[in-house]
Amino acid sequence: MIEAHDITVRLGQRDTLKGIDLVAAPGQVTAIVGPNGSGKTTFLRALTGELKAHGTITLNGRALQSIPVGELAGLRAVLPQAVRMAFPFTVTEVVRLGLRAGLSAGRDGLILQALEAVGTVDLADRPYPDLSGGEQQRVQLARVLAQVWEPVADGIPRWLFLDEPVSSLDPGHQFTVINTVRTFAARGGGVIAVMHDLNLTAIMADKVVVLKDGRVAAMGAPCEVMTEEILSDVYNCPLRPGLMPAGTVPFLLPQSSPLAM
Ligand SMILES: Nc1ncnc2c1ncn2[C@@H]1O[C@H](COP(=O)(O)OP(=O)(O)OP(=O)(O)O)[C@@H](O)[C@H]1O
Ligand SMILES: [Mg+2]
Repeated sequence: MIEAHDITVRLGQRDTLKGIDLVAAPGQVTAIVGPNGSGKTTFLRALTGELKAHGTITLNGRALQSIPVGELAGLRAVLPQAVRMAFPFTVTEVVRLGLRAGLSAGRDGLILQALEAVGTVDLADRPYPDLSGGEQQRVQLARVLAQVWEPVADGIPRWLFLDEPVSSLDPGHQFTVINTVRTFAARGGGVIAVMHDLNLTAIMADKVVVLKDGRVAAMGAPCEVMTEEILSDVYNCPLRPGLMPAGTVPFLLPQSSPLAM
């Protein structure tokens, strides 16, 4: 379980997060959505311990600040919104960095399994800097998966923190990654993912946290928060959800406005 209470983060001259509460359960995918600048990345970085925050955060029942860095690396893996790599590693070497950071060092077979989980085995020997943006995103996902490969270790859930994990991916690879993420949760791990695409969020998430101006505007199951009233206000544009034939998964199409003549 992750429990965050009254999280406030001040960056520069202003409070970027203003008293946020969140409970995220293992076995579920929790998505964080909201407009650009609403505080999603800041909140994720606070939850991972990367950014100092006021308030309290517990991970699996322990105060986040009390967990030694080395132990934390075995409990949770983080996919940042932007990843810069200083050296011209191959794809295999990048994924091995994840293995070394976690608890699976020496299990080199996991590298190919992690690449397979994101549909990227064919790139194993390529130099990472030569890859396209989407290919690099898949390799970074493989790196974080390798770090926490077993969703539950010794009865303790592990966590994936993902900042826009499918933003650069084509629909086929989005599908693969969403399945991998859902499987990680179904096997007992926890996932917190920042998302922009509301339709992908609806099929991926068990719970959606909607941020606006550093506060929680809504929180609940996709059907509860993905309503015309909530989303049109949060995104400041007309958004009217439909429902897939099964009647439970909402989808949204932006409403076109008449062109000015
Ligand atoms: N280091 C910083 N110093 C000052 N302000 C910052 C800093 N980092 C972020 N901010 C501000 O905090 C706000 C929230 O930023 P954040 O990166 O969390 O937004 P976001 O919801 O992830 O947006 P996006 O969808 O564009 O990724 C923004 O207004 C941003 O300009
Ligand atoms: Mg962001």
